[in-house]
Amino acid sequence: RKRVVKISTGSKQFDSILGGGFQSMSISEVYGEFRCGKTQLSHTMSVIAQLPKDMGGAEGKVAYIDTEGTFRPERIAQIAERFGVDPDSAQENIAYARALNSEHQLELLNTLSKEFASGEYRLLIIDSIMNCFRVDYCGRGELADRQQKLNQFLMKLAHMAEEFNVCVLMTNQVQSDPGANALFAGADGRKPVGGHVLAHASTTRVLLRKGRGDERVAKIQDSPGLSTLAVFRNDPDSSFSDCPEREATYIITNGGISD
Ligand code: GTP
Ligand code: MG
Repeated sequence: RKRVVKISTGSKQFDSILGGGFQSMSISEVYGEFRCGKTQLSHTMSVIAQLPKDMGGAEGKVAYIDTEGTFRPERIAQIAERFGVDPDSAQENIAYARALNSEHQLELLNTLSKEFASGEYRLLIIDSIMNCFRVDYCGRGELADRQQKLNQFLMKLAHMAEEFNVCVLMTNQVQSDPGANALFAGADGRKPVGGHVLAHASTTRVLLRKGRGDERVAKIQDSPGLSTLAVFRNDPDSSFSDCPEREATYIITNGGISD
């Protein structure tokens, strides 16, 4: 039987609100405004996932789907140095793919499924989930089509997370104009894009925002799908009494996400 593994974010505080880290066999989403650290978190976790378990890792390989062209191998090398691992091998253990459009993004999952059959992969990053879909289906009349294709992508993703015991971490943008439909808006009005389809896909949703000075703040959101409490309930290592604070601060360093 497959056992859930948790992958550290690089920040102990951030990990604690997640009950130890982002989990395998489920989909997690981090969303927030520009420069709040979504891409830096993606880079940091791509290194940590490779580390031994006692360092917060999962001793696994990583697949990285980049839809915005912001992946930087040299950042991977810097982060690897922080954790005392060889920069070259850290880079080699990341299967990188640039998604050119939403159709290609879906095709990449088929390619990755074959790779994941090796059983070596523990983390799949998608930075960011909606970018291609928003470009390809930008007309008002295209929303239903977009959501249908998005749903197809997310179903496949959920299946892969389960089948291969992989942690799926997707980043997401926020609407520049929170607008009238505040259903999924955080207390501060920031609302992730992707609508109901995306909202129901992720088990854990985390809002990232800028804090004081260099600080950033991560806040667990209520998921309309499976509740965060249910995640703790499914995890034999946690209990309700461990149910953590919902907010944590972190910083972005040369070595990636940190306390
Ligand atoms: P968008 O993709 O634009 O929505 O933003 P994002 O949430 O992905 O932000 P990203 O992860 O790119 O974070 C950008 C922040 O990380 C900036 O404030 C940078 O100062 C910081 N950052 C990026 N690289 C480095 C680095 O090498 N060292 C340090 N200390 N900070 C860095
Ligand atoms: Mg980014």
